Amino acid sequence: MLTPKPSQAVNNMKFFADTADVGAIAELNELGMVDGVTTNPSLIMKSGRDIIEVTREIAGMVDGPVSAEVVATKADEMISEGRKLAEIADNIAVKVPLTWDGLKACKALSGEGKTINVTLCFSANQALLAAKAGAAFISPFIGRLDDINVDGMELIEDIRIIYDNYDFDTKILAASIRSVNHVKDAALAGADVMTAPPDVIRKMAHHPLTDKGLDAFLNDWKKTGQKIL
Ligand code: E4P
Repeated sequence: MLTPKPSQAVNNMKFFADTADVGAIAELNELGMVDGVTTNPSLIMKSGRDIIEVTREIAGMVDGPVSAEVVATKADEMISEGRKLAEIADNIAVKVPLTWDGLKACKALSGEGKTINVTLCFSANQALLAAKAGAAFISPFIGRLDDINVDGMELIEDIRIIYDNYDFDTKILAASIRSVNHVKDAALAGADVMTAPPDVIRKMAHHPLTDKGLDAFLNDWKKTGQKIL
C-alpha cells in the first residue's frame, strides 16, 4: 500500500458521476456526492438525448466540471468540436482521446483557457504526454485494463508517482471504475478524482453487517415498547 504523501492528504477526493442520466445525477446530488460528471459518446447514446441539450442540463445541475467528449479524430476538427462543446457552459471540460491528434487538440484548447480531460489513457507514458500538453485531467481506464488482465490500479499508482515527481498540476481522474473496491483502491493510490456509475457510488454505502446490526437493534427496540417521537 502506498504511504499517503502530505501533498495528497490536503486534497479532498472528488467524486464524479459517470453517466448522462439526469435522474441519477439529481439523486446523488441531493447527498452532495457529485463534484462533477463525466460523459462519453456511449453514455450519450444510452441517454437517448441530444448531446448539447443533455450536457447543458447536466452542467446546470452541478458546480464542478462536466466532461463532454469530441468525436472527431483529426486535431483541427477536434479543436472546432471542443470549442463548440465548451460554449455549452462555463463548467464544461472538453474530453479528447489520448492520440497524437488528441494531444494537439489538448495543447491548443488548453492554451485558450479551456479545461481539458484527456481520456482513454492506458499507460503512464500517455499520462506524461497529456500533462505536458496541458491537460487539466487525465483519465486512466482501470476497468478496461483489468478486463485484459492488466492491473489497472498499478497505472494509477505509477501516474501518481510521476506527477508528484515533477509537480504536474494535471489531476488523476480514475475512470472505468466498475466496483466499490476500485473506488477504495483508487483512493489509496492517491487518485484526485474518481468517476463511477451511480450504482457503484450507491453500493459504497452497503455492508451486510450494517444491515444485520440494524435489524438486531430494531428488534430489541421493539421489545422496549418505547418511541423517540
Ligand atoms: C469516463 O470518463 C469513462 O468514459 C468511463 O469511465 C468508461 O467506463 P467503462 O470502461 O466502464 O465504459
